[in-house]
Amino acid sequence: MDRKDLEEKYGIDLWDDQTRQDFRETLLAWYDQEKRDLPWRQTKDPYKIWVSEIMLQQTQVATVIPYYEKFIQTYPDIKSLAESNEDDLLRLWQGLGYYSRARNMRQAAQQIMEDYGGHFPKDPKEIKKLKGIGPYTSGAIASMAFDQAEPAVDGNLMRVLARVFEVDLDVKKSSNRKVFEALTKEIIDPDRPGDFNQAMMDLGATISTPKNYNPELSPIKEFDQSYLNDTWRRYPVASSNKKAKKEVYLALLVKDKDGDYLVEKRPAKGLLANLWLFPIINLEDLKQASQDPESWQVKQGALQEVLDQDQVNQVQAYFKDHYHLPSQFNQQVQGQVSHAFSHLNWSIYLLEGQVDSGQAIPDQCEWLSPDQREAYAFPKVQEKIWETYFNPSLF
Ligand code: ADE
Repeated sequence: MDRKDLEEKYGIDLWDDQTRQDFRETLLAWYDQEKRDLPWRQTKDPYKIWVSEIMLQQTQVATVIPYYEKFIQTYPDIKSLAESNEDDLLRLWQGLGYYSRARNMRQAAQQIMEDYGGHFPKDPKEIKKLKGIGPYTSGAIASMAFDQAEPAVDGNLMRVLARVFEVDLDVKKSSNRKVFEALTKEIIDPDRPGDFNQAMMDLGATISTPKNYNPELSPIKEFDQSYLNDTWRRYPVASSNKKAKKEVYLALLVKDKDGDYLVEKRPAKGLLANLWLFPIINLEDLKQASQDPESWQVKQGALQEVLDQDQVNQVQAYFKDHYHLPSQFNQQVQGQVSHAFSHLNWSIYLLEGQVDSGQAIPDQCEWLSPDQREAYAFPKVQEKIWETYFNPSLF
């Protein structure tokens, strides 16, 4: 895609050389004054920049900072990450979510050791071959660590560009990303490409925000076509998000006579892979297995607070089938937890049960004493369940 495509196919008015130069100077002068002082901005080490960019993909800056510091202390270089123990790594990542990011980084570090002699590759095409690295991250590393004029197009940058150039393309549609990449290549500062990308991101994060945007306050408003034409309320064009699917679960807090709880390691593939959770049952699976699916009424998204004995019997039968343990569950529901993934909304009801001590449990399960919690990689949703369970007033 070149200048001609951008202008003719996508109706974008590109700047002449002088305007482009003025824009770079204005943007970077603002950045030099206002840039956020972030730990990964003190370095050119591609490894550290990579770690920060992966963490920042789905997590806010303020949350990332302490995780970043701890990560770099624990795994100061590619080699230490390549040689890390996966469970230790996941424990360090605990609370950041999207754990496949951590697992992919570990594999990518091993790739760098094997295929690139332990040196981070410089060529964006090579960077993109690393596990978990897509066009955004490869552009970020190439521009910030290696001063290459590569675009690093994230949501912030697309929003800024859509407003500045009145781009009428849906920013939610992934096939449009290449237009924003081509547009960035047209205007990026070849002398300071990393700063240029980060300045655009900062502008999107602090001024050209999705909500409460006031173009009057923008340092680049003189270049902003949608501001000059008073069309800025239309940009960016974004299709409505697909609604996250709602799912209802029962979390089974199964205690033995010693007060230990049954926890289960999730399968190696799929959501929350390899992480420890209480056994959870999808209500739809329970209904499928049940003689009396009608007994489970979820009214306005809520399950009743006290189950009847027939429902408890169904849970016990399901638990026996899947965990091979005879159990006694309570009728009283102990609380409710909500947890959002990008594509799912879980509503989880906590149900407490007892089993006799000393029975064989499935391979993927262990008994956990609540004071050993630190030793496991628990995802956030499990933390929420603990909190609610030990704090019953939350129901
Ligand atoms: N978001 C992700 N990476 C960023 C960076 N380097 N600067 C600003 N915002 C970001």
